[in-house]
Amino acid sequence: MQGKRILLGITGGIAAYKIAFLIRILKKRGAEVKCIMTPASSDFISPLVVATLSENPVGIEFWDKKTGVWTNHVDYGLWADVFVVAPLTANTLAKMAAGVCDNLFLATYLSMKCPTIVAPAMDLDMYAHPTTHRNLDQLIRDGVTIIPAESGQLASGLEGEGRMAEPETIVEAIDRFFNKTEATKALNGQKVLITAGPTYEAIDPVRFIGNHSSGKMGFALAQACLNQGAEVVLISGPTQETLSHPNLTCISIVSAEELFAQVKEFWETCSIGIFSAAVADYRPEVKVDQKIKKSEEHVQLTLVKNPDVLSWAGSLKNETQLLIGFALETSNLLENATDKLTRKNLDIIVMNTLEDEGAGFGHATNKIALLDAHNNFTKFELKSKIAVAKDIVSYLINYKK
Ligand code: CTP
Repeated sequence: MQGKRILLGITGGIAAYKIAFLIRILKKRGAEVKCIMTPASSDFISPLVVATLSENPVGIEFWDKKTGVWTNHVDYGLWADVFVVAPLTANTLAKMAAGVCDNLFLATYLSMKCPTIVAPAMDLDMYAHPTTHRNLDQLIRDGVTIIPAESGQLASGLEGEGRMAEPETIVEAIDRFFNKTEATKALNGQKVLITAGPTYEAIDPVRFIGNHSSGKMGFALAQACLNQGAEVVLISGPTQETLSHPNLTCISIVSAEELFAQVKEFWETCSIGIFSAAVADYRPEVKVDQKIKKSEEHVQLTLVKNPDVLSWAGSLKNETQLLIGFALETSNLLENATDKLTRKNLDIIVMNTLEDEGAGFGHATNKIALLDAHNNFTKFELKSKIAVAKDIVSYLINYKK
């Protein structure tokens, strides 16, 4: 469970008190846990306990009435590897089955990009009621996994089926889910080389030629490939982004020549290459050892061409390797991208333009179109870079050479 992202949804039943133990087990097993609660559930377990144990803020309302800060249910949906609802009351079950969306919890359920597992808990008559059966059947049809309620003493004093499965049983179900998804991940056994961020080309010890690339897109791509079971080699220029994962090798470079040396080291061993780095096309011919003083009125800098790393990888690409490049164009987008795709021997080119608001350098969002070697052209909406990375990775997973 190490590094897995578990979104825990808590609804308002007596069994909610057991969630403190569930969170502790998940955290001990190395999972990242975020919690969302229905407003009613805070009568059964304090959000403070949930926040403290999960080491994350808790989502309850759409927005904080004091600060005006809005809680983004879509972000929860993108963040999580699995959504676990425990306990699930008859009321929230009915709302989930019907698609009702009158609180943050339900909006998040409807925004989930990952599978949902639920552990119902209610009194025995409620659990046995045909309505409950009908609603559980609907959830199963919607792809939700049910951890059946267990038999035992109930809060009402009655005995029978309806108790929430014990935290250990819920953890086993989550384990089974991850083991199954690990075994069926689309990029299992694949090694992906990703270049990310800018390159800095030194002028003297304190100055360089660089660009505004943040590295966000490349890091999001690395995360998306890791999520699909790939081993990833991420070679990145200077960036604020960080990522750690047992299947990730992160290599920091500064200049295009350093990037080239690392790509040369790894490309042959990889089955997929995604070159999202904004590599400087030119570098100063000489790097002056001492800081250039401002004595002269005019200073001339002679630039020489950097190696085109992507072209090099394209020229050595074998029949099974997939190569994806990026094209950031300010004019004639399709024409220039088509030319780049052929010239660099790519399978897919990701096109973006600085003309679209919110797309490209520095932004958390991007708007792309994909062009492939079979001349298929697909446009996507403006999305977060995490969602864009998922689109690119699912496109390459389904791509036939
Ligand atoms: N690229 C690279 N090495 C370089 C320059 C670019 O690997 N020296 C890669 C980028 O990572 C990107 C793709 O090539 O995937 C497109 O980069 P771009 O600079 O737009 O292409 P160029 O061929 O340099 O064309 P131009 O600058 O003329 O638009």
